[in-house]
Amino acid sequence: MLSPGYLSLAGREPGRRVVADLSAISEGFVAVGSTGDLAPGEMKFVAVDRERVVLANIDGTFYALRDVCGHRNAPLSRGRLIGCLIECPLHFAQFDMRTGKLVDGPVSADIAVYEVRVESSVIYVKQ
Ligand code: FES
Repeated sequence: MLSPGYLSLAGREPGRRVVADLSAISEGFVAVGSTGDLAPGEMKFVAVDRERVVLANIDGTFYALRDVCGHRNAPLSRGRLIGCLIECPLHFAQFDMRTGKLVDGPVSADIAVYEVRVESSVIYVKQ
C-alpha cells in the first residue's frame, strides 16, 4: 500500500518512491520517472496505460512519442537518439523527437506525440 501523495511509477526501479503531484494526475498525466533517471541524450521505454512510449531527454527537455514505428511496428526505443532525431532500429526511418514528424525513411506517417510535464523532478506524460 502506498502512502498518500506517493504513486507507483511506470518503468521505475523497484523500491524507489517519487512524490507525485496530484494536480497533474487529475489532468490526465501519469508519472513515468524522475529527471535524474534520464541524462541528456538518453531515452528509454515506459508504459503509459498499456501503451508503449519512448521518453527522451534532449538538452534537458523531456519529450515522449509513441514507441512504435509506423512502417513495421519496430520499437523506436531500441533505435538511436541522434540529437533531436530518433532513428528506427529496423530500416532507419528518422523522426524528430520533439514533434514526431518524419524526417527520412521508408514510411509516410508521423509518430504520435505525448504531452510531457516536469514538476518537482517528476516526469509526467499525458495519456
Ligand atoms: Fe521503422 Fe521500418 S520498422 S523504418
